[in-house]
Amino acid sequence: MQPIPSIIDRALAHVQALEAYVPGKQPQEAGWIKLNTNENPYPPSPRVKTSIAKLTGDPLRKYPNPISAKLRESLTAHFELPGADWAFVGNGSDEVLNLLIRVFCDQEKSGGYMVPSYSLYPVLLDIQNAKTVVVRYDSSMELPVKDVANCGAHIFFLTSPNAPTGVGIPADAIRELAETFPGILVVDEAYGAFAEEDAVSLVEKYSNLCVTRTFSKSHCLAGMRIGCLLGNPDFVQLLDKVRDSYNVNVLSQEVGLAALSDTDYYEGVVTKIKQTRDFYINEWQGKGWFVYPSQANYIFTQPVNSVAEKGPEVAKSLFDFLRGEKILVRYFGNDPLTDSFLRISVGSESDMLTLSEAIDQWLKNA
Ligand SMILES: Cc1ncc(COP(=O)(O)O)c(C=O)c1O
Repeated sequence: MQPIPSIIDRALAHVQALEAYVPGKQPQEAGWIKLNTNENPYPPSPRVKTSIAKLTGDPLRKYPNPISAKLRESLTAHFELPGADWAFVGNGSDEVLNLLIRVFCDQEKSGGYMVPSYSLYPVLLDIQNAKTVVVRYDSSMELPVKDVANCGAHIFFLTSPNAPTGVGIPADAIRELAETFPGILVVDEAYGAFAEEDAVSLVEKYSNLCVTRTFSKSHCLAGMRIGCLLGNPDFVQLLDKVRDSYNVNVLSQEVGLAALSDTDYYEGVVTKIKQTRDFYINEWQGKGWFVYPSQANYIFTQPVNSVAEKGPEVAKSLFDFLRGEKILVRYFGNDPLTDSFLRISVGSESDMLTLSEAIDQWLKNA
């Protein structure tokens, strides 16, 4: 008798070979300071609370609006785009990225991305069993525009400001790429609200360019899973063909609308985070630590220990020490461009103070 193949053996070969994305740790127990997943330390706008309280009965009983119509309208008004058909709303911007790959990538039509950048892109491309193209930064972390323009990818994902470095891609570089790269260009602006420049205003001019945004970072709503694509209606039409029928739940749609209506509140939150960020960039530079110029809500820095050593072991040592103090930051030890750095999300003033004291403690012992 033939042995019965296992369930695993029956899966598609590329799925069997997949390495799942590993998100930053989300400890369930209290007492941790979380500076590892770039969440916003502040609560969402009070309008969010009110909108949740109103949602009972019928709206919960019925399916949500399938295209998140009001949110599309509100987003396109907010970003001053020509009409509601210039926005697509997803279950977090991760879903939008996934759907873009579903639409544009396969074994022939490749997806490209920078290293280092958001480590989800290769996973999503592997899930689709798509061909991938990688372009590397050097330690300047300046976008090598010509390398991207000539990389041959069918669609290319740029992260701006980049993760994990925080370095922003100048709008001029995006413009040049949109004109010289023959493929489709996606600018992932998950941290765009903290940046000095953005590419949203370019999507009307360049039909091969779209931008993704999220409510997770600047709008303090990572738990609600709301993201969007801003781009010409062709992108939106294609994504509408491949999404789940009701991809954004009713609560997320309402909360997204409430958040978007409170511009003043969120401008305040973003300003506060940028001030805290710049304070600590200054502080760590003062200790002689190299810091990339961050335009995001996190800081990518190369720790130096008390005997002036730096490098992967030093970074890992601080990472482990902080973990022992119940402070989570992020270490990317898989690449020489990142392995002597830590990425630290900008937290509340009190969390950053605790972090700073822990670093001083480490410096006494390291
Ligand atoms: C560069 C980048 N893009 C997209 C995302 C995903 O955001 P969302 O919560 O909207 O799925 C993240 C989250 O960390 C990110 O760092």
